[in-house]
Amino acid sequence: MEDTIEVIPLNPSIGAEVTGVDLARANSSQIEDIKAAFSRHKVLVFRDQSLNAEQHKVFARHFGSLHIHPRYSHLGAEGDPELFIINTHADSKYSNGEAWHSDVSCDPVPPMASLLYVEQPPPDGGGDTLFANMCEAYAALSPSMKQWLIGLQAEHDGRKDLAAYNVRLGPEQSYPRAVHPVITKHPETGAPILFVNGSFTSKILGLDRGESDATLKMLCAHIESNPRWQCRVHWSPRTLVMWDNRCTQHHAVWDYYPHSRNARRVTVSCAYAPTAY
Ligand code: SIN
Repeated sequence: MEDTIEVIPLNPSIGAEVTGVDLARANSSQIEDIKAAFSRHKVLVFRDQSLNAEQHKVFARHFGSLHIHPRYSHLGAEGDPELFIINTHADSKYSNGEAWHSDVSCDPVPPMASLLYVEQPPPDGGGDTLFANMCEAYAALSPSMKQWLIGLQAEHDGRKDLAAYNVRLGPEQSYPRAVHPVITKHPETGAPILFVNGSFTSKILGLDRGESDATLKMLCAHIESNPRWQCRVHWSPRTLVMWDNRCTQHHAVWDYYPHSRNARRVTVSCAYAPTAY
């Protein structure tokens, strides 16, 4: 049938390429198939898509209402608040997302999905994005570690992420900070998720500073170090990648200096705050 999508897994753990759909014109049956593939693979890659900003938003709205990044709501950033523009060039001091993280986990209700579009990747390659499956990262922990982590809560502090870009809040400014369970439950599949990340998670509650830092360091090393639950997406021209922000982390590789990389992200709000497993 003409509107049947094809879903080709990148590996059994995470990621799939989807063909047979023009995202600017996706029909309801294709959207339902995309939702099923998203639930199964967590990261979907759509190549050769012509999407302007409005079409990008229209496609994202099939999955929920659009999320406004706190740089707009709290820091008065200029531009369209429904778009998060990433622009890394030869003079950049930092590149957005160049560390393992989930997006905006400092929000009381972090986003459910992010949809990133790259029209023209860097000319000599590079600029890939790595993704990791946090359900599998949880599953690989020992039974004793799982038992200990279930029931713990962690603080996610947006100021920690801002500090990585050398942004400090002024005396009148605030930025989101939230407490979430360390092990969350996926609202649709019920799967347990290891929900701490190196960019935002600032403290495990109930531990002293040294214990908390050591535990977070150990968990982040566990997440980052095993390619078995990761995939690496190489961007070709006009690629859109969407990821389930509730159960994945990602890392944008900045290996294309002195070239530039521009990307446009539309982020989808979640209907539920993370709940404990
Ligand atoms: C992000 O962290 O959302 C950006 C990822 C990327 O630029 O590949």
